[in-house]
Amino acid sequence: MSSFPIARLRRFRRSEGLRGLVRETRLTLDDFVMPLFVGPSPIPNPDLPGLARHSVETVGDEVDDLVRLGVGAVILFGIPEEKDEDGSGAWDDDGVIQRALRVLRERQPQLVLLTDVCLCEYTSHGHCGVLADGEVDNDETVSLLARTAVSHVEAGADAVAPSDMMDGRVAAIREALDDNDFETTPIIAYSAKYASAFYGPFREAAESTPAFGDRRGYQMDPANVREALRECELDVDEGADMLMVKPALPCLDVIRAVRDEFDLPLAAYNVSGEYAMIKAAAARGLLDERQAALESLTAIKRAGADVVVSYWTKELAAWL
Ligand code: PBG
Repeated sequence: MSSFPIARLRRFRRSEGLRGLVRETRLTLDDFVMPLFVGPSPIPNPDLPGLARHSVETVGDEVDDLVRLGVGAVILFGIPEEKDEDGSGAWDDDGVIQRALRVLRERQPQLVLLTDVCLCEYTSHGHCGVLADGEVDNDETVSLLARTAVSHVEAGADAVAPSDMMDGRVAAIREALDDNDFETTPIIAYSAKYASAFYGPFREAAESTPAFGDRRGYQMDPANVREALRECELDVDEGADMLMVKPALPCLDVIRAVRDEFDLPLAAYNVSGEYAMIKAAAARGLLDERQAALESLTAIKRAGADVVVSYWTKELAAWL
């Protein structure tokens, strides 16, 4: 390999045309998923437009907008009218997500409809599963998640994404889907989901802050990466069709490690706190939002993610 003065890496940086020719990572809207919150009534969020809440009545207009802009996939989160100990709104055939899915399936037949499968938005205590002796009971929760996943697919979901971090949930969901003749429906497993401080704005929007304690008894310790690979390996064995790492920016090394180890499609979740930090800094004039967002999303792709779930998806559609 030649070195300076023969090698001058600045030669390809001299113009946008030359830079474009050698660019290694590109953003295309095809890889992006827009999260949508659906609750009893719409709640706009001017500071964080991606975290606005829609209702079953208004979400159709939002989705028409997204499709017009070229967005190809959304992931739905539901906030029920009433919460209870078991989170029974999650699998209610007439629940908020099930009704939204029926509306959207009909309105935009081509749009990919993903659903987040978890109980935290539906439980009165805000934990991701049912409680026994003050702890989240794994196996009891898993059967409720499977029931929830089936009800989402019955209502029109194209794929389900369990985000609860219970052990064995992918296998249970696979079995339940197959038993209901949904063997062609994929499971996107939030395999390596960390107990992260970056979920704050989401929990505000989804009203899912735990009433006591935290999620460290089921979500992963941010200090671990080998454990993330074990989580992925188990999910692959249990029948996951796509893996996910979450959050994204604090976990670029995890995304890379999973990409190198597994051949399944890989998603990364650019979470609410990652979005809110840049929005807040931009609002104070500390940085340029568009450039910071594009740099972040490019970094997530460069680390190895095929699919990116991001609150910037709608804005990105306008930028690209
Ligand atoms: C549900 C769920 C959460 C997020 C996605 N699914 C919250 C949590 O685990 O507390 C967070 C997404 C975000 O912050 O954007 N369990």
